[in-house]
Amino acid sequence: MLQWDTEYDEPYIPLGDGIRITPLRFDDVETWWELYSEKGISDNNIRNPKPLPRELAERQVVEKMETARPFLGQLQALRSTGTKKKVWVIGGCPFHVIRNDSGKIIDVPFPPPEPLSQYAHVNQTWDLGYNVSSQYTGRGIAKAAVKGLVDDWCVPFMRLRRISAGAKAMDEASHAVLRKAGLREVFRYPRTLPQELGGVTFEAIKFVKELPPSLSHATT
Ligand SMILES: CC(C)(COP(=O)(O)OP(=O)(O)OC[C@H]1O[C@@H](n2cnc3c(N)ncnc32)[C@H](O)[C@@H]1OP(=O)(O)O)[C@@H](O)C(=O)NCCC(=O)NCCS
Repeated sequence: MLQWDTEYDEPYIPLGDGIRITPLRFDDVETWWELYSEKGISDNNIRNPKPLPRELAERQVVEKMETARPFLGQLQALRSTGTKKKVWVIGGCPFHVIRNDSGKIIDVPFPPPEPLSQYAHVNQTWDLGYNVSSQYTGRGIAKAAVKGLVDDWCVPFMRLRRISAGAKAMDEASHAVLRKAGLREVFRYPRTLPQELGGVTFEAIKFVKELPPSLSHATT
């Protein structure tokens, strides 16, 4: 269930053992950059140049914080209206990192479909991605993150009806996470990176999961 951190005045989704999904903060830039510079993550990333320039990492953090701002504002307003009649649909996702006491350890980007007109997200599919820092892999964090984000945000707040994810055909760890989270393979396709990212073509797999309808929010 969605919780509220009074120290940071932000929402979070608890995953257990002190690990939580939260919005990005500006002082996350350094660890965001380090995470995306890790070899295992950089090798599987199809959006960033290699190596990732620090200033681009900073821009990404700032842009994601900007993207999250209206959704955080809507959530604040929703909280202040009380616990009854929570029927608003929030058109995006303010959560971008998973962190524990030592900083952020995973990112959970949800690139929104464009254009995103009001309420257009209802019944839409959102594509999710995740990267767990190598020192934290193998602990069930990616699986818990996908489940937490979908169950505590995408279904009750965004009313999404479907999630999808793309993975390189060779990325078996990612396939395992998606299958364990209930997504199934729907098709394979050739994916070509833009020239500035190398221009290579590789086989990719699209996974999908249908989500149950929800008419209520759950917050504390
Ligand atoms: C893929 C990745 C996110 C997995 O994170 P993780 O936190 O270690 O995954 P989890 O511990 O939640 O594992 C979930 C399930 O997948 C399985 N799994 C994880 N890695 C696996 C691997 N290399 N091979 C086979 N199965 C694997 C686990 O055994 C677990 O199954 P279980 O529930 O039966 O125990 C992480 O390895 C990573 O960030 N890799 C580099 C970046 C990347 O590939 N991102 C995905 C881009 S689409």
